[in-house]
Amino acid sequence: MRIVLGVAGGIAAYKAAALCSTLVQRGDEVDVVMTDGAERFVGALTFAALTRRPVLTSLWDAPDTIPHIALARSAGVIAIVPATANVVAKLALGIADDLLTNVALAARVPLVVAPAMNSAMYEHPATRGHLETLRARGVTIVEPGVGFLAERETGIGRLADADAIVAAIDAAGARANDLAGERVVVTAGPTREAIDPARYLSNASTGTMGIELAREAVARGADVDLVLGPTTVEPPAGARVTRVVSADDMYAATMTRAAHATFALAAAAVADWRPAEPSAEKRKKHDGDESLALVRTPDILAALGARKNGTFLVGFAAETQDAEAYGREKLQRKHLDAIAVNDVSGERGFGTGDNSLVVLWGADGRRDLGTASKRELAARLWDALLDVRAKRV
Ligand code: C5P
Repeated sequence: MRIVLGVAGGIAAYKAAALCSTLVQRGDEVDVVMTDGAERFVGALTFAALTRRPVLTSLWDAPDTIPHIALARSAGVIAIVPATANVVAKLALGIADDLLTNVALAARVPLVVAPAMNSAMYEHPATRGHLETLRARGVTIVEPGVGFLAERETGIGRLADADAIVAAIDAAGARANDLAGERVVVTAGPTREAIDPARYLSNASTGTMGIELAREAVARGADVDLVLGPTTVEPPAGARVTRVVSADDMYAATMTRAAHATFALAAAAVADWRPAEPSAEKRKKHDGDESLALVRTPDILAALGARKNGTFLVGFAAETQDAEAYGREKLQRKHLDAIAVNDVSGERGFGTGDNSLVVLWGADGRRDLGTASKRELAARLWDALLDVRAKRV
């Protein structure tokens, strides 16, 4: 793998030399970029000797090759080890005032960031916010650990172990382009079914799981269409987003976009019913019992299953009881290639918190993806879908 190893100016910079050596010994090609601060802790010569390649420290050394663009394009993964509070902030804000931050801004490859800093700086709301921003953008953050710090006290902020950093680099690298050439359609979010101009039927979905699946697909090289119901959660940059409101709108948008898709993922929580006759004017209250006549909405996933030509079709099943049994039944009835099942009986499932997923396919295929953030589950789900399609399981 070609790795750009960015080293920022913290005491943990000396550990980056050992990491660099590990990567070189296993055959990676490593280009080291150092900040001015890093050079105060470790000499560039150390990294040059380890990698047998020039170490880059300045934007201005080789104007003929435009080093930040060349490096950003050549790498499979960019890893910043250690990342100081200052570098984390610059990455989050898109500030590019030295070679390392320019490379990071110009790169379209996965970015792995291993922060190391004083506990107070790590716990500062500014740093927490910047790390959250980076995570939301798909950056892998290798969390620092608790341990002895340069200040001779114990606290959070110690650079993660080399093994964890190497594993994160490998995971990012392996996933980097494995969806290149795929045309992916994802439905996400709730739908709203109008009762009258002021009221609607809807549900608690925020669309987060589908948005994360779309984000992950973009990051892994796919061409992505996201058909998104009403939500305030931001869709990922790089996906074509079609905003819809009702199940009927979502049906129409999805059917045209899925015609040539290689993957279709129905993560939307589509309303199952809509008011039979939405009123053009706001409804008035009446005395006594009132009822609202409902009719079924189109089942988008079942329609995709009925006319699929080569598309790998994935459904979702959120259930409050017997989730897996219902999932298997849906897998067959809707002619799906796989279904991701989650139990929404507890707190889990809705919103932006952690989720648990189990993937089912075929007669008895099953993989438990465990409990994790929806971002991480999206990555694991794509791994599983590629394995199922390639019959590697
Ligand atoms: O049958 P049920 O609604 O539980 O199935 C859930 C799966 O079907 C989800 O993948 C959901 O996105 C999809 N679905 C759909 N259109 C509907 C209802 C559900 O695509 N009208």
